[in-house]
Amino acid sequence: MSQPIAVITGASSGMGLAVTKHLLADGWRVVMADVAEEDGKAIAAELGSQALFCHVDVSSYQQQADLFKKAFAWGGDRLDLFAANAGIADTQFLHENDYRYDESGTVMPLNLKAMDVNLTAVVQGIWLFKHYARQNKVPGGKIIITSSCAGLYHMPTNPIYTASKHALVGLTRALGPVLDRQNIQVNAICPAFVPTALCPKDMLDRFPNEHITPMSTVIKAYDTFLGDDTLSGQTVELSLDQLYFRTKPDYPNESQHWLAESSASFWEEAYKEPVS
Ligand SMILES: NC(=O)c1ccc[n+]([C@@H]2O[C@H](COP(=O)([O-])OP(=O)(O)OC[C@H]3O[C@@H](n4cnc5c(N)ncnc54)[C@H](O)[C@@H]3O)[C@@H](O)[C@H]2O)c1
Repeated sequence: MSQPIAVITGASSGMGLAVTKHLLADGWRVVMADVAEEDGKAIAAELGSQALFCHVDVSSYQQQADLFKKAFAWGGDRLDLFAANAGIADTQFLHENDYRYDESGTVMPLNLKAMDVNLTAVVQGIWLFKHYARQNKVPGGKIIITSSCAGLYHMPTNPIYTASKHALVGLTRALGPVLDRQNIQVNAICPAFVPTALCPKDMLDRFPNEHITPMSTVIKAYDTFLGDDTLSGQTVELSLDQLYFRTKPDYPNESQHWLAESSASFWEEAYKEPVS
């Protein structure tokens, strides 16, 4: 039987790289997608022939589309896992007042690169993965999304990051049960603080040791989702060495309970066709 194939975004560093190494050791072949070309190429060369580096900016739909096409062909028409992991912090702060103007004096838009990378690219990646996973010999596969504990709580320094990571939790919960019917399981990890290149260097140096979540917890979460086909639509919080499965908030009354759990036929009837 051929080896399973993973596409991991943000694979040149941090969690993406750790998961890449773990899967390779477990007999997977891994397509490592990252904007960091120099590092990515050098690391992939060290990792050997079962790793393929692709220089991709996931915020470009075309580049992600090319990535999935290439990965499916490299895998021998097979694609088993999409780790939607690339993510960045806010590139401009909504709470600051550093307004810039175009030549007509109109306020320039806020830079939303964090939304493009952390959210839009994940949605487009799922769209693309699904297209190929359906063509597997046994149609289906797994998607593991890297949200954050900022997707469950909030990070006042990074409101756009917070919004994008919250959106990934909602996306996972909404999509997981539906795609499960197509044998595609969608789950999300919400890590607490894991020391990686994402965090400003001086903060890394000062961060209290007792609040650091080790990379082994990230790997534990991946193993949990990869090893259990019954999980889809789940969000798991990673803190220290523990995994905490987090569910939606409690309903305040019976009406909200009904709306969330028993009104499906109303919505399904209403959204039979996309609204233009
Ligand atoms: N480190 C933490 O404490 C922490 C906590 C919760 C969630 N996360 C999330 O974990 C994920 C992985 O981050 P990390 O901590 O390993 O950081 P990292 O900076 O070490 O790795 C992120 C990788 O993503 C790549 N990347 C950035 N923009 C990209 C783009 N447009 N296209 C392709 N690749 C791109 C970077 O080059 C880098 O290699 C991110 O989604 C991050 O938001 C991190």
